[in-house]
Amino acid sequence: MAQLRALAKPSVASLDEVRAVWEVNVFGPLRVYQAMLPLLRKSSDARIVNVTSALGSLTLASDPSFAYHSSFEPVYAASKTALHAVTLSMMTELEATDIKINLVSPGFARTRLVNFEGTESIEDAAREVVRVARLGPDGPTATFTTWEGTSLPW
Ligand SMILES: NC(=O)c1ccc[n+]([C@@H]2O[C@H](COP(=O)([O-])OP(=O)(O)OC[C@H]3O[C@@H](n4cnc5c(N)ncnc54)[C@H](OP(=O)(O)O)[C@@H]3O)[C@@H](O)[C@H]2O)c1
Repeated sequence: MAQLRALAKPSVASLDEVRAVWEVNVFGPLRVYQAMLPLLRKSSDARIVNVTSALGSLTLASDPSFAYHSSFEPVYAASKTALHAVTLSMMTELEATDIKINLVSPGFARTRLVNFEGTESIEDAAREVVRVARLGPDGPTATFTTWEGTSLPW
């Protein structure tokens, strides 16, 4: 992880790597949104949950007291920031509809993505994604939360 972080600094990050990660984290969700929206519009109970990371929060990342302030980088973290921007555009497009769209950060989970070095179980990390995906018709839309509905800044 430490080695990966060093390689992701803006001065040395491989642009091919940046493109590959943005392809998955930014263009992927946009592509899926475009493919699924016609079906979602036909549903009476449609919702979208875009999975992001607190690392992509510009408010948190620009705060020197944030634990990951100095590791904000253009590969992964900035791809999640871009995902937030793209999600905001989806949110405004869907404002006049009943389709819910929310952003969720699963926290730091023990998955392959982080070389299994996370502090949370996969089950705990999935909880907020599942909670938000199961919001009832009166539940909120256009939120950015982590477990137990804790709001995160964009
Ligand atoms: N783990 C964390 O601590 C953490 C923290 C914050 C946010 N997140 C977010 O949580 C989400 C899930 O990550 P995870 O931790 O569960 O990671 P993971 O276990 O490594 O899973 C990543 C998933 O992405 C898929 N994937 C990777 N490259 C792809 C590509 N080019 N095209 C299609 N699918 C691709 C993988 O598919 P294959 O299995 O087929 O390779 C895998 O299903 C991600 O959005 C991640 O950014 C994770």
